[in-house]
Amino acid sequence: MRAVDIIRKKRDGEALAQAEIDAFVRGATTGTWPDYQVAALLMAIWLRGLSAEETAALTAAMVASGIRLDLSDIPGPKVDKHSTGGVGDKTSLVLAPLAAVGGVVVPMMSGRGLGHSGGTLDKLESIPGFRVGLGLDEFRAALRQVGCALIGPTAAVAPADRVLYHLRDVTATVESIPLITASILSKKIAEGIDALVLDVKCGRGAFMKHRADARRLAGSLVEVGTARGLRTKALITAMEHPLGRAVGNAVEVVEALETLKGRGPADLEMLSVQLAAHMLLLGGVAAGMEEAEAKVRDALASGRGLEKLRAVIERQGGDPHVIDDYRRLPTAPCCHLLRAERSGYVVGIHAEQVGRATMLLGAGRDRKEDAVDHAVGLVVRAGVGEEVRTGDPLAEVHYRDADRLGKALPLLGTAWEIGDAPPPPAPLVLETLG
Ligand code: URA
Repeated sequence: MRAVDIIRKKRDGEALAQAEIDAFVRGATTGTWPDYQVAALLMAIWLRGLSAEETAALTAAMVASGIRLDLSDIPGPKVDKHSTGGVGDKTSLVLAPLAAVGGVVVPMMSGRGLGHSGGTLDKLESIPGFRVGLGLDEFRAALRQVGCALIGPTAAVAPADRVLYHLRDVTATVESIPLITASILSKKIAEGIDALVLDVKCGRGAFMKHRADARRLAGSLVEVGTARGLRTKALITAMEHPLGRAVGNAVEVVEALETLKGRGPADLEMLSVQLAAHMLLLGGVAAGMEEAEAKVRDALASGRGLEKLRAVIERQGGDPHVIDDYRRLPTAPCCHLLRAERSGYVVGIHAEQVGRATMLLGAGRDRKEDAVDHAVGLVVRAGVGEEVRTGDPLAEVHYRDADRLGKALPLLGTAWEIGDAPPPPAPLVLETLG
């Protein structure tokens, strides 16, 4: 089977067979296909698309490129959540322990932040000592003991995704629904889970800016996930403004802890509870959404969710005392108050601009190899719907370097939209699929 024939077939808009897709993924992973042929097929896929069957075949081939964890000896349904990436999205830190208390096992392999959106691993690494690089045996042991573990991608899981993603990144082929679907699902299926809840973000702070695109991605993820034997559900959620009030790393850990203590922002608590409840429902440990939500709310109100996170931190080598003493987390040396230039109501906070500004402060990375400053970030003081007067603080900007602050401020200066009347209430969960 020659690479050139497979490329030509897709170039001409024909459907590829499983064997052809297997040859492509094997060739890309082992290096027997040169990069230019892998990239040519990626571009043909970007232009011509893949059917649901082809996408399922690609997902299967990518899973088979590495090991697939078998967690069947650990009792309980294994359920994970994946978000397509947003600004201020620290729901994983809140919902993973809540879902574990609710009765499912949560083997969460997360990613790092890239561009304007943050990543769970960077947030966790702001906890002194926390190890996201557990070996697979340690991961299993942690799951067995605690019922929840949060780690980074390992080389053994879906190695094809790393090769393909690197080439997509430099050939303008990232934004392809079948390629994104196979990339996300191959990593999740290889994790050994039974069910997956997807949070597909939609809006100006998200990868998918428009509802129709978010719906297409969510639909593809649910269809292909289900076809590959994973119980899959997707929520399309609004990502116009940052979620919660904190954007960064350590500041987001503090907000997640406050939420587990029952003092978090309403939007973050609501979304975390909803997603965790869907995890329980898909895991089969609740008969309906009402029971699932009641279980999650009980895990939150009883403090058992917080204690579960303490156990996770302890098991993964982190300092559990951060829970009671936030001064043990990295703190930025300087704080700048961003102030309102006019009176009125906050009608919007541009999530992507806030995400880009915090990245410029050092909280995120432009390129994969960039280092992250866990201490810097931003805390919203005037959220959407709140009234402000000229000179009132809009946000605290926690920074280390005045030059970086100088680059971030122009973006922040136009991120708050202030109008004459409060905005109409807008739903956070826009749709549920699956
Ligand atoms: N996230 C992934 O894991 N893969 C993609 O292709 C895009 C976003």
